[in-house]
Amino acid sequence: MIIIYTSNTGHTEEYAMMLRDALDLPAYKLGDAPAQVAGAEAIYLGWLMAGGLVGYQAAAKKYRIVCAVGVGMSPESEEQTKTLKERIKAPESLPVFYLQGGYDKKKLKGFNKAVMNVVEKTIMKRLQNIPEEKRKEEPVYKMITEGYSVVSAERLQPVIDWYGNR
Ligand SMILES: Cc1cc2nc3c(=O)[nH]c(=O)nc-3n(C[C@H](O)[C@H](O)[C@H](O)COP(=O)(O)O)c2cc1C
Repeated sequence: MIIIYTSNTGHTEEYAMMLRDALDLPAYKLGDAPAQVAGAEAIYLGWLMAGGLVGYQAAAKKYRIVCAVGVGMSPESEEQTKTLKERIKAPESLPVFYLQGGYDKKKLKGFNKAVMNVVEKTIMKRLQNIPEEKRKEEPVYKMITEGYSVVSAERLQPVIDWYGNR
């Protein structure tokens, strides 16, 4: 078993490194893995872009994905996980996890930054419905206004538990 991941601004990589250490498995960036691991069973971690799991389809062509983990800025919810599973057209039997990661516009460039300028406005509009004191405590609010991460071992625990119980 190996870990394969794709990360744009480092949050998914952090989760991949935590998982590597917790499970004692080799971890490779998609594209950087040595040729001899092609076809291996793999846990795939990727970041969410417009609801899609970046790199998943490419990884699935090269490795036998036994678990998929998506990392985004939205809070975790059953709905989020369900949507992700449908979106990647995962077989019913594939365990799919969604983890909230982090977001920092300063780390974005070009197209991604332009897209997020628009998305940020939509999210901020939605957050206007929350009273100001509470809003300031919302991770997503902090992500957009100052750059913020909620990457943590606790959030990754369900993936570690899945591995232990499989
Ligand atoms: C262009 C773009 C689209 C994004 N779309 C989503 C999305 O649909 N859902 C979500 O939860 N997060 C979305 N995000 C936020 C990232 O998934 C989040 O910041 C993630 O932690 C990035 O992981 P990374 O640091 O490994 O690149 C988007 C970010 C960018 C730049």
